[in-house]
Amino acid sequence: MCGIVGYIGQRDCTDVLMDGLEKLEYRGYDSAGIAVFEKTGIKTVKTKGKLIDMRDKLQKEGSPVGHCGIGHTRWATHGEPSDQNSHPHSNGRVTIVHNGIIENYKELKEFLTEKGYVFQSQTDSEVVACLLDYYYSERNPLRAIMETVKELQGSYALGIIFRDFPDRVYATRKESPLIVGIGENEYFIGSDIPAFLKYTKNYVLLEDDDIVCMKTDGIEFYDVHGLPEKKEISVAEWDVEQAQKCGYPHFMLKEIHEQPGIVGNTVESCCRDGVPYFDDIGLTDELIRGVKRVFVVACGTAMHAGIIGRYAIEGLARVPVTVEVASEFRYMDPIVGEGDLVIVVSQSGETADTRAGMELAQHRGAKTLAVVNVKYSAIARQADMYIHTLAGPEIAVASTKAYTAQISVMYLLAFRFAFARGTISEDRMRELTAQLLSAPGSIQRVIDRKKECQFIASKLVNADNLFFIGRTFDYALSLEGSLKLKEISYIHSEAYAAGELKHGTISLIEQGIPVITVATQANILAKTISNMEEVKARGGVIIAVCRKGTSFAEGTVDMKLEIDAPELDDMLVPLPTVCALQLIAYYTSVLRGIDPDKPRNLAKSVTTE
Ligand code: F6R
Repeated sequence: MCGIVGYIGQRDCTDVLMDGLEKLEYRGYDSAGIAVFEKTGIKTVKTKGKLIDMRDKLQKEGSPVGHCGIGHTRWATHGEPSDQNSHPHSNGRVTIVHNGIIENYKELKEFLTEKGYVFQSQTDSEVVACLLDYYYSERNPLRAIMETVKELQGSYALGIIFRDFPDRVYATRKESPLIVGIGENEYFIGSDIPAFLKYTKNYVLLEDDDIVCMKTDGIEFYDVHGLPEKKEISVAEWDVEQAQKCGYPHFMLKEIHEQPGIVGNTVESCCRDGVPYFDDIGLTDELIRGVKRVFVVACGTAMHAGIIGRYAIEGLARVPVTVEVASEFRYMDPIVGEGDLVIVVSQSGETADTRAGMELAQHRGAKTLAVVNVKYSAIARQADMYIHTLAGPEIAVASTKAYTAQISVMYLLAFRFAFARGTISEDRMRELTAQLLSAPGSIQRVIDRKKECQFIASKLVNADNLFFIGRTFDYALSLEGSLKLKEISYIHSEAYAAGELKHGTISLIEQGIPVITVATQANILAKTISNMEEVKARGGVIIAVCRKGTSFAEGTVDMKLEIDAPELDDMLVPLPTVCALQLIAYYTSVLRGIDPDKPRNLAKSVTTE
């Protein structure tokens, strides 16, 4: 939800800011802008549209020349995407970029209007620029920031420049991520590390309410009271290549291809001597034995990973598991408390609803376990226990590799829970873990047959509506396959538990409507086949995604995509199968002329409610 960057150093500031924004474009691409100190003052260039439009504008109008500035890529919340609503916002003395939401902006706007401020945009962010100006006196930026943040309700990461200080970038944050990059006599801010990874791997994590002042000759950190703070410098584990396309046409395709390695690394990192091991994070067998109920709280794709987790944990360990959409969980006054384990799953670790759900659970006495991809994120740091999914930076808006890493962790938790609670033997835990460790092979085989997915995509490309159906694990996959397809192809798609379709929705099945049936689970295959027949009888076109060698009566299936995974238990087949569904979605999007990395209306890392 918006990306912000800032730079001070000897390099060409416009280049650095644009580079950084490119890495953060996944956070929003409704508009972009930069403000750079030139010799004669601040030059701001901003425009509606993607960064490519911004580059065009810079070419036409001339790039600002300087060594200090801030930049922004927007996901619109208040006010439509337009030049006027684009950041940076300025009132002359103060120029800002903002990621987050100022909840009390209306009251502040009224107050500032009374004081004579005139607003140029419909954004909540512009009030921050004006409020900073209101509190700015005696050439004291720090005091202006301290006074301003006292008045702000909501979330913010702010990059701020003051006209009087052409050699400084200030920044502060609350509940929106902000990282400070530390180079050799140069400093950066970014909403995420890839924004400056090309220049430095050293970073400082800003905590809520911290204020940083970056100058050409040094950097200073302050707490909310303006007292100087010492900060620890960390070193990023990510490589520059991980945040680049490396020859792939899209990040999404690259990220799909990375999955064999990611699943292997994530599983290995959670195992010791061939079995899942979580003692080091505090998830001991004793704690597991004491768990009365498990909740999985997450959003979107991460929540779908939770559903796989539910089937695996309940099936193996016989512990009740409830999967809750985080935005509901946080407001439904859930019955959760001591004895419960709440697993929060998130790629970004910043999703506002997931974080709030976790905080609520903690408040009520439940233990929380975060399964998160971004190590330095708020959720990872706030949870009682934390498992790091090793997917690396996920840039495409549609989540792929983070999902497979998440479900790999879910399986490992299921194995350990089952062993600790005595519902499976150590031998069975070893056997299942060994299978999981071998899963990269079957994932790779799916990727190697991507042409078949491309062919299926070519049959979906003109559809207006379609369905995904499946049972148990296949249903969980249907939900994910359907979400992936609709979010990047804009084809309306619904996922149904195969047995549920006939309770109403089957009335939508008509001649030629594609129904992707996920049918990998032997124990309910016959039932799923009956549901396929029901659809077929009403004119639906059945695309079956099934295990290699599955046979169907003649005429039941129109297209078949076989998953070659003989080494995997049915429970683990979602790992390779989801890759096929991701590829189908990817190719459908590309064939429809859509950029799958940046689907309309979306952004990665949803830090608003
Ligand atoms: C869909 C997708 C989203 C996210 C959801 C949660 O492809 O990426 O549904 O899964 O917004 O985000 P995280 O995992 O960052 O909490």
